[in-house]
Amino acid sequence: MANNDISDNSNVVQSNEVLVTEQTTSKPTTVPIFIMGKRYRVPSTLTILKALEFAGYRLLRGVGCRAGFCGACATVYKTPDSYKLKVGLACQTVVEPEMWVTELPFFPAVKKTYDIEKIPATAEAVMAIYPEIARCVACNSCTRVCPQDLEVMDIIQETLHGNLKKAAELSFDCVMCGLCASRCPAEIIHYNVAILVRRLYNRHLVPNSTELAVRIEELAENKYQNEVDRLKELDEEQLRKIYSVRPREGSPGIELKTNRIYWDDEIMKGNVK
Ligand code: SF4
Ligand code: SF4
Ligand code: FES
Repeated sequence: MANNDISDNSNVVQSNEVLVTEQTTSKPTTVPIFIMGKRYRVPSTLTILKALEFAGYRLLRGVGCRAGFCGACATVYKTPDSYKLKVGLACQTVVEPEMWVTELPFFPAVKKTYDIEKIPATAEAVMAIYPEIARCVACNSCTRVCPQDLEVMDIIQETLHGNLKKAAELSFDCVMCGLCASRCPAEIIHYNVAILVRRLYNRHLVPNSTELAVRIEELAENKYQNEVDRLKELDEEQLRKIYSVRPREGSPGIELKTNRIYWDDEIMKGNVK
């Protein structure tokens, strides 16, 4: 993140002054927080991410989706009630009074390159690329720090035991924030290991989809060209309507006929609600 010239920023608390904002005209709703050691007062309802921006920081890194998915906003902080380092995603964590906070938008990690076609889905293959996983001492620090509440230590242990399916499943919700790597005494970069495991699992262990193969063949034969042409003639409103109410597999009230996109007509006629 970049400090957006906060030298003359009025949100910086100069003394015990309470910042008066539109929301604080009737009663004080601001809290003091420390951003990289400097004290600010910010509205108490803000997330850490918005508090940083409120305080005048312009975020060039350490922000992405603002919705808890991209993992760009890993944050560490402490509060007066505990000596423990706390963690969270800045876009999802609300400020606390007197918290000391800094973002950790990236934790250094060497990303290995490999050809997924040439690597077998085995523990040995993963260890050949990331040998440090054998140094795991099962301290569980990685699990305790994960903002996604993943069993991070188990991801590593299942990988070491060759159970890549389990490791892939356990790591499915990883947002690659890097907080686990920042705490690991074995210096493992868990999210890079996990993404390799998921790639191996999906490339070599999950059976190929027969439906997908059939569909690709049909597309190559232009089987759906008429439907595609028809969709291209619709205006934006019609397309939005079709998209928002389209039936999914198992939707009640309409039969999805094999290999035929016909339900847009039904929707436009008002037969599908
Ligand atoms: S496993 Fe690590 S990188 Fe993934 S979400 Fe948890 S702490 Fe972040
Ligand atoms: S923090 Fe590192 S050493 Fe500790 S359990 Fe997790 S992977 Fe193993
Ligand atoms: S900005 Fe994407 S997870 Fe916070």
